[in-house]
Amino acid sequence: MKNFIFQNPTKLIFGKGMIASLANEIPADKRIMITFGGGSVKANGVYTQVTEALKNHNTIEFWGIEPNPSIETLRKAVELGKMEKVDYLLAVGGGSVIDGTKLIAAGLLYDGDAWDLVLNSKLIAGAVPFATVLTLPATGSEMNSGAVISCKTTKEKYAFGYAFPVFSILDPEVTFSLPPRQVACGIADTFVHVVEQYMTVVGQSRLMDRWAEGILQTLVEIAPKIKENQTNYDLMADFMLSATMALNGFIAQGVSQDWATHMIGHELTALHGLTHGASLAIVYPGTLRVLKEKKGDKILQFGERVWGITEGSREQRIDSAIERTENFFRSLGLSTRLHEENIDNATIDEIERRFNERRMAYGENADVTGAVAKKILKSCLLSQPTGE
Ligand code: NZQ
Ligand code: ZN
Repeated sequence: MKNFIFQNPTKLIFGKGMIASLANEIPADKRIMITFGGGSVKANGVYTQVTEALKNHNTIEFWGIEPNPSIETLRKAVELGKMEKVDYLLAVGGGSVIDGTKLIAAGLLYDGDAWDLVLNSKLIAGAVPFATVLTLPATGSEMNSGAVISCKTTKEKYAFGYAFPVFSILDPEVTFSLPPRQVACGIADTFVHVVEQYMTVVGQSRLMDRWAEGILQTLVEIAPKIKENQTNYDLMADFMLSATMALNGFIAQGVSQDWATHMIGHELTALHGLTHGASLAIVYPGTLRVLKEKKGDKILQFGERVWGITEGSREQRIDSAIERTENFFRSLGLSTRLHEENIDNATIDEIERRFNERRMAYGENADVTGAVAKKILKSCLLSQPTGE
C-alpha cells in the first residue's frame, strides 16, 4: 500500500425529505446565490423544496449552467455574485451545476478572469463556502474537490480542483425524473470512476480492491433493475451512494490511479459535445484492449470477482472480461464504438495532436501519450463487438 493522506470534510445528508434540512445547514446571515441548470428542478419539485426550505434566508438565483459548464456562462454568474456581494453558494443540480459553482466560488474572490483559475489552480487564493443539492448520481462532485470546465470558443475542457462542498444533500427521490439516457451515462461514469482507481496493478491493497469491486458488483446488479423500474427508492439509493463513494477519494487510498480514459473522453466531449458518461463507454473498452498486457493481472482479478470468469486460458479470460465490460455498457443503451457517434479519424488525429502539444502522458505508468491515445481510439473505430 502506498502512503496517503485522506481527508474529506463534506458532510453527507442522505435520504427522503432531507432537502428540508437546508434551513438549518446554512447560516441565517449569509447572502446566498442558488445556482441551477436548465430547469429540470422546476418540473420535478426540487425547486419548490429548496425555496421552501430557504424562505427565511437571503437568496438570489442564477439559472442556466449548462451540461459541460462553460466559462462563458460562469463569467456571468461571477459578475452577478460580485455585484450582489454573495458570500455563500448553493448548487442545485447535477455535476455540471456543481462543478460550475465550484468555479464561481473561487471566481468571486479573484480579480481576474475566472478561466485563469481553471488553467492554473495555484492562482486560487480562496473561495466562498458552497453546498449542493444533488439531482444526478454520476460525477461524485458532491463530495470531491474537482471540477471540469469547458471553453466553448476554443473547444477545450479541463479538470481542476481545490475545495470540497461544506455539505451535500442526496435525496434518491429526486432521481426518479432523470431521462433514462442520463441514468445510463451516470452508471457508466460511476463504473469508470471506480476502474480508473482500480484497474492498475494487483496487490496494493486487498481492502481497497474489495471496496472497488463492491461498487462495481452493485452497479452490475442494479443496472438492469433500474432500467425496469427507475422509481424504486432502494435501487436509486444504492445508485446514488455508489456514485458518491466512487469518487470521494475513499477508494483511492493507498493505490495507483489511471485516469487516461477520462482525459481522452474529455477531448471527445470538447470536440463533439458527447455526454461525459457516453464518451467513457466508448473509450474504456479501448483502453483495456490496448493496455491489456500491462493491466493483465488486474483484469484477471476483475474478471473473476466482478464477472465470475474462471475458465479458459489467461488470454481468453482477459479478453472475456473486456468483452463483458463492453457488453455491460451496451446493455445500458450506450454506444461503444466511435462510428456510432459519427466520430472519425480526423478527431483521433486532433486528440493525438493536443496530447503531444501539451506534452502530457496519462495512466498509472504515465505512458498514455498522444500515440497511445491514438491507438486506443483506433481500436474503437472498428465495427461493433460480436454478439451485437
Ligand atoms: O440542466 P437541467 O435542466 O437541470 O437538466 C440536467 C442536464 O440536462 C439533467 N438533470 C439533472 N438532474 C435531473 C435532470 N433531469 C431530470 N431530473 C433530474 N433529477 O441532466 C442533464 C445532465 O446534467 P449534468 O449535470 O451535465 O450531468 P452530470 O452530473 O453527468 O455532470 C457532467 C459534468 O460533470 C463533469 C463532466 O465532465 C461533465 O462536465 N465531471 C465532473 C467530475 C467531478 N467534478 O469530479 C468528475 C467526472 O468524471 C466528470 O468529468
Ligand atoms: Zn467521470
